Amino acid sequence: MTPYLRALRLINFRNYADDTVLLKPGLNIVVGENAQGKTNLLEAIAFAVTGSSPRTPSDPEVVRWGADFARTEARIAVGGSGQERMVAVGYAPGQKKRLTVDGAPGPALSAYAAGGAGVRAVNFFPDDIRIVKGAPSDRREYLDDLLSILRPAYARAALDYAKAVQQRNQLLRRIRDGFSSERTLATWDRKVVDLGEQILRGRDEAMPVLDEHFASSLRALYGPEKAAVHYSHSAAPEDYAEALREAHDADIERGTTSVGPHRDDFEVSLGGVDLTTFGSQGQQRMATLALKFAARDHVRGVTGEDPILLFDDVMSELDGRRREFLAGYFLESTQAVISTTNLEYFDEEILRRAQVVRISGGAIMETTTDGVMERVAERHGSFRTA
Ligand SMILES: Nc1ncnc2c1ncn2[C@@H]1O[C@H](COP(=O)(O)OP(=O)(O)OP(=O)(O)O)[C@@H](O)[C@H]1O
Ligand SMILES: [Mg+2]
Repeated sequence: MTPYLRALRLINFRNYADDTVLLKPGLNIVVGENAQGKTNLLEAIAFAVTGSSPRTPSDPEVVRWGADFARTEARIAVGGSGQERMVAVGYAPGQKKRLTVDGAPGPALSAYAAGGAGVRAVNFFPDDIRIVKGAPSDRREYLDDLLSILRPAYARAALDYAKAVQQRNQLLRRIRDGFSSERTLATWDRKVVDLGEQILRGRDEAMPVLDEHFASSLRALYGPEKAAVHYSHSAAPEDYAEALREAHDADIERGTTSVGPHRDDFEVSLGGVDLTTFGSQGQQRMATLALKFAARDHVRGVTGEDPILLFDDVMSELDGRRREFLAGYFLESTQAVISTTNLEYFDEEILRRAQVVRISGGAIMETTTDGVMERVAERHGSFRTA
């Protein structure tokens, strides 16, 4: 059985004081008016299963204003016969983040995000359109995030590589200003090449697979024109050492490292047209969704398990036919949690098959059989017995 999230408790997370949400396999629709906490809830799910927020690199932001810590607790169904894993992420500003799995200290953050929590997540936030529309760094981040949830070694290499490039840059400036000799560069070159090759190999391996998944997702979502993603290297892995050496003079002059995976990009195209430069808003949005679906397919291909899909405000700006396609896609997924302000985007049949979660003012509500709204936490009592 593919794992999924059964319940999540949020304590002092964004605008939630202490609330619990119960989720089902298949489609879960989080509905509420603007500024009630829909995006925050999706963020909390990602935080719970990856150990960090996909929206901000700054952890203090997720702590409820006026509180001194934030905590998520998740119950993940990991096997048939009701087998569960309990994972918790606790964060207090100024302290190290605390991850626990079934009550015991969890693995390192990179391993936790790469399946250590029991389930992986692929998310979409409206801002993600910058993967298609934005700078090369946005596209690299998409790749690095995806490869990191597949392999903690990749995540570590990416972090170490960024640090090594920083240090090489400092040294370049020292050489330029006469405080160091060029000979000292060799050590940093070796380190940068060694880590950079690991990143390039990871990306090179994934790109053709992603290209295929992306093309078929965009075909289903958009239309028959040929879609593609194509990586462009500033240096191929086997030429990297050489290219770095050749760049010495120029790099010293500029004080930055000019070749390597931190300078690469990939092109997202539709019918031979580069969508970054020429795509319409709708095409860019659909291409972003197709990249996320490609990420889902790739995770499934590598791990044999579906990640949970967290898609924020995904239905807006799409026409009826595409909304219908997406609703079907999410219904057929192992688990998807999507948010909307408008339940009218979904027809009755879909609403009947989906779990609807109502959000109001940072509280998670449930409609009882007699039509009254009540807080889930109150109806189901404590999280552990929910
Ligand atoms: N750390 C925090 N502590 C308390 N409240 C916060 C914190 N961070 C954000 N908020 C507030 O949480 C509220 C809900 O935000 P959220 O982005 O989840 O709304 P939403 O339901 O997704 O709305 P929309 O439909 O407009 O996207 C906002 O008013 C926001 O200011
Ligand atoms: Mg929102």
